[in-house]
Amino acid sequence: MKYLDLKNNYTKEELIEAANYIKNGKLVLFPTETVYGIGADALNEQAVENIFKAKNRKPDNPLILHVSSIEMVKEIAEEINDIETLLMEKFFPGPLTIIFPKKSHVPYIATGNLETVGIRMPSNKIAHDLIELSNTPIAAPSANISGRPSGTNVEDILEELKDKVDYIIDEGKTSIGVESTVIRVINDEIHILRPGKITKEDLEKVYPKVIIDKHILSTISEQDKVLSPGMKYKHYAPNSKCVLVYSNNKEKLINKMQQLEQENKNNIVLCRTENKKYFKNCICMGNTEEEIMKNIFTILRKVDSYEAPLVIIEGVAKKGLGLAIMNRLIRACSHNYIEL
Ligand code: TXA
Ligand code: MG
Repeated sequence: MKYLDLKNNYTKEELIEAANYIKNGKLVLFPTETVYGIGADALNEQAVENIFKAKNRKPDNPLILHVSSIEMVKEIAEEINDIETLLMEKFFPGPLTIIFPKKSHVPYIATGNLETVGIRMPSNKIAHDLIELSNTPIAAPSANISGRPSGTNVEDILEELKDKVDYIIDEGKTSIGVESTVIRVINDEIHILRPGKITKEDLEKVYPKVIIDKHILSTISEQDKVLSPGMKYKHYAPNSKCVLVYSNNKEKLINKMQQLEQENKNNIVLCRTENKKYFKNCICMGNTEEEIMKNIFTILRKVDSYEAPLVIIEGVAKKGLGLAIMNRLIRACSHNYIEL
């Protein structure tokens, strides 16, 4: 495995070697603005299969294809309608994935056997330059073994992935911290299949008909028919048992969390920084939704080292950026959720 440190300044030339790895069908771990990805040439079936093996990912869970230009979108999307064009004008490059009907040359192994393909144009400069130099769409899931929290910092995932990928590009911590918003336009409505940094409210400013898929905050079994297969799998989970608690009444929220903390002296609390005074054993998640988003996966990885009988996590309001945070936390807690 080759390691490239780009935590300080970098020049595009430094990515030529990594791009050659992509062209040769190898796996490259690279940064994006959301989370790190495990990338491979999306049009090389063997390379894409190796991503699934590296992550131990179920074959029906499709990958996002990352592009560096609108021309590249047109090479893999069969049809692009007016709403999608509007969304691309407004949000590409950035943390938005749009599901399109796929062109026939896009391998089914990349799309989990679906007739559609998820496409995203990252705004991260390294990601952009790597795709451009590779001259092919890069299929990339989040950098983690399936079921584990996504990697937002190479340090967090090095042990887990160092023997699984051929090349690592390290840019330090990613700026957003949760994965892209995934949407699909059906008839004349935008359906949010996975919430992220681009919120329902952001989308509504561009186009008014936006629907949040009902599976985003609910329990789904593996047999359920869902619009986005990734929604049904266990995800983001620490090994420790976790419970998520939320109330819009702060006193009720703190009381319940304190009560749970006191059940065992080794229990640990993940809370907003401003609330740390209420608890004995706590890890601060940050104060704003932006901060919590940025830190959450690193913290979910760290909690296991405490070997706590129970991890009590403070929830946030399910609106704006809070929807993306709660979507990840509900899964991290395997739907063990108390709302008061
Ligand atoms: O921010 C991100 O999106 C990161 C970075 C690396 O770009 N990638 C990422 O990929 O989160 P992954 O594979 O961990 O999650 C992709 C999600 C899954 O929930 C998957 O089911 C959904 O996107 N998806 C991909 N293609 C799809 C399709 N054709 N139809 C429906 N859902 C799709
Ligand atoms: Mg993932």
